[in-house]
Amino acid sequence: FPVEDIRNFSIIAHVDHGKSTLADRLLELTGTIDKTKNNKQVLDKLQVERERGITVKAQTASLFYNFEGKRYLLNLIDTPGHVDFSYEVSRSLSACQGVLLVVDANEGIQAQTVANFFLAFEAQLSVIPVINKIDLKNADPKRVEKQIEKVFDIPGDECIKISAKLGTNVESVLQAVIERIPPPKVYRKNPLRALVFDSTFDQYRGVIANIALFDGVVSKGDKIVSAHTKKTYEVNEVGILNPNEQSTHKLLGFLGLLHMEVFNQRLEQEYNASVILTTPTVPYKAVLSSAKLIKEYKEKEITVINPAQFPDKSKVTEYLEPVVLGTVITPDEYTGKIIALCQARRAVQKNMIFIDQNRVMLKYLFPLNEIVVDFYDSLKSLSSGYASFDYEDAGYQAAELVKMDILLNGNFVEELVTIVHKEKAYSVGKNICERLKDSLPRQLFEIAIQAVIGSKVIARETVKAYRKNVLAKCYGGDITRKMKLLKRQTEGKKKLRKIGNIEVPKDAFIKVLKTQ
Ligand code: GTP
Repeated sequence: FPVEDIRNFSIIAHVDHGKSTLADRLLELTGTIDKTKNNKQVLDKLQVERERGITVKAQTASLFYNFEGKRYLLNLIDTPGHVDFSYEVSRSLSACQGVLLVVDANEGIQAQTVANFFLAFEAQLSVIPVINKIDLKNADPKRVEKQIEKVFDIPGDECIKISAKLGTNVESVLQAVIERIPPPKVYRKNPLRALVFDSTFDQYRGVIANIALFDGVVSKGDKIVSAHTKKTYEVNEVGILNPNEQSTHKLLGFLGLLHMEVFNQRLEQEYNASVILTTPTVPYKAVLSSAKLIKEYKEKEITVINPAQFPDKSKVTEYLEPVVLGTVITPDEYTGKIIALCQARRAVQKNMIFIDQNRVMLKYLFPLNEIVVDFYDSLKSLSSGYASFDYEDAGYQAAELVKMDILLNGNFVEELVTIVHKEKAYSVGKNICERLKDSLPRQLFEIAIQAVIGSKVIARETVKAYRKNVLAKCYGGDITRKMKLLKRQTEGKKKLRKIGNIEVPKDAFIKVLKTQ
């Protein structure tokens, strides 16, 4: 296929603005899928995606389209829409030259629209704004056009107004892809250079990599080398992507609670695996304090992913925590509450503007650990679902961090080791203990729940024992028998305590995590 007749593009949108519906229409229009079959949202293929109606994993499809006497190959790279999955979005964008930025004609620009736009803009991609759902009664495409001019500095007349649901004006989207997005720059005579933007594993066929070709050609039988691992592979098959052949099995670390629940469900459904949930953590850094330590770790700065390996204060000059630039878009009436929420999360305000008469866009620098767990849920609940949120990477900042352990009857709970900001240690520790107390079933013995920093207990709760009355059946009578029974009960308690035989139900962890 001549390179100048190829277009690589993605659709980016705030959640529910209609990305998957538009993708389906494009697949239908180009004959990639059959219109008559019940093919609703072909790209949303994983079982959990269908159940929850959200896209988790990027899928890709190749479309052929005839325009003005020429046949074009349009590679549509699908991206997830939910805030928890922004890593996958940027990965997909690196394989594109342009994007369709879909905005709901009723809801207008939302936080993810902004974050996705800037990801595309920074990657120097052509951006085609598409105002969707113009069929809705409350649609106000003119207002949205003005927001797009104000926030993105894109002339309003560049917006394409469509209804993906009804198919209205969708053909002009395909034409804009051809006219406004440049073909990739591939120098076929150069040695092969390609980016793997996604990969799957097939039991029978091996690794299937989705690649964006930057230089050269790739053919069956070629030996290729991974620039990162230096491993060599042989190419068994080369093809373009047809959505029906795709299945996906990749596991990337969790960002938010939704991410965690979705992947938990995927592991259980697709792999029949039982899952241990641990506190979501962010990668902290520790700057080592002595030449000896630097030699030992072979680095000045070490990245700590597992909280259990967090180095002691005596070994470091400072700890660093990852920060993100967050965007919140909200109806004005919730601004006060949202500012208070952001401040409680140690966030620093960077900007605040009105994007139209009653909508405010706030920018805050957040410590990542303050938002990974439940920030999004809190924001949604205090704004009755109207505020939207997204974030992008903003490097690291120094922070006073401490490692906090949770003990049940003196036993460490591996799942609940957390790194917390010093100022918040007491309240977080107290919270975890209280929540655990509420979610642990009572057992035959008392359970002491402690939050501990170093050797200092900062919070404690107790789950009372069931008092099983072993004497109930001894009517008066034999004192030695009574003593025997009491002794056995104490031994039973001791034994259980000693081996830490405390059953912690899995949902107890999710309940605990939601409160931090
Ligand atoms: P994620 O997969 O979660 O990122 O969402 P999405 O952006 O892919 O949205 P999706 O295509 O699933 O659409 C969300 C909802 O909007 C669905 O109920 C669609 O039927 C509806 N929808 C999409 N396009 C239109 C449209 O043009 N008009 C109307 N009225 N509804 C639409």
